[in-house]
Amino acid sequence: MAIKIITTEDGSHSLFDEELNETYHSTKGALGESLHVFIREGLEFFLTSNTGSKVNILEIGLGTGLNAFLTAKVAEEKQINVSFTSLEPYPIPRKIYQALNYHASEEEGNLFRRIHEDEWEKENIISDHFTLLKTTAKLEHFNTNKLFNLIYFDAFAPSKQAEVWSIENLRKCHDLLDKGGILTTYCAQGQFKRNLVEAGFEVEALQGAMGKKEMVRARKP
Ligand SMILES: C[S@@+](CC[C@H](N)C(=O)[O-])C[C@H]1O[C@@H](n2cnc3c(N)ncnc32)[C@H](O)[C@@H]1O
Repeated sequence: MAIKIITTEDGSHSLFDEELNETYHSTKGALGESLHVFIREGLEFFLTSNTGSKVNILEIGLGTGLNAFLTAKVAEEKQINVSFTSLEPYPIPRKIYQALNYHASEEEGNLFRRIHEDEWEKENIISDHFTLLKTTAKLEHFNTNKLFNLIYFDAFAPSKQAEVWSIENLRKCHDLLDKGGILTTYCAQGQFKRNLVEAGFEVEALQGAMGKKEMVRARKP
């Protein structure tokens, strides 16, 4: 695995995968992109119309752990119970996650470290309102009895990893969502949107993050 840390334009770190020639986030801002696509247009949007006691979230691609970390912070701030499941077939090495600059305090640093260091393949309590199950299963092979309210679809771009964006995987995401569940992603490629519709989603194109024209929010009716 050949990955190195880069600093994006909003000052937050991301990673560059040299084999794929691909970054883990927008080079305009990793933090800005995660906050926009997954927290604001995903989690916070969902919370405006749902007041259940627990939110089940599935992430495709734990990567740096930034989305999990930001979600845990929202869960604690708003005192909302979140059960977060994240798929990551290629976990990043310790020396990489230890050097990432996402936390602003020692307390946040401990939260971020726990996200990476807690045991895999088992649901762990990370903080008062946030549990995490990390698995090395690929989306293609992932099995669960759970239904999710939200999916953060944060795979590498379709041009780099077309198989992850396949119609079969999108149908699987549709099956994994509860009624009214939502999938958000930074990607707004035409074929991807058509595949989402074919898989049964209602698709909405929203303003993208960090100057990007579009992103997608898809809803299971
Ligand atoms: C865009 S990056 C991760 C972004 C991550 N959410 C973050 O904030 O750092 C995509 C991630 O998907 C993972 N991945 C690759 N193939 C996958 C698959 N088949 N199923 C799930 N995740 C996969 C990669 O290893 C990588 O960490």
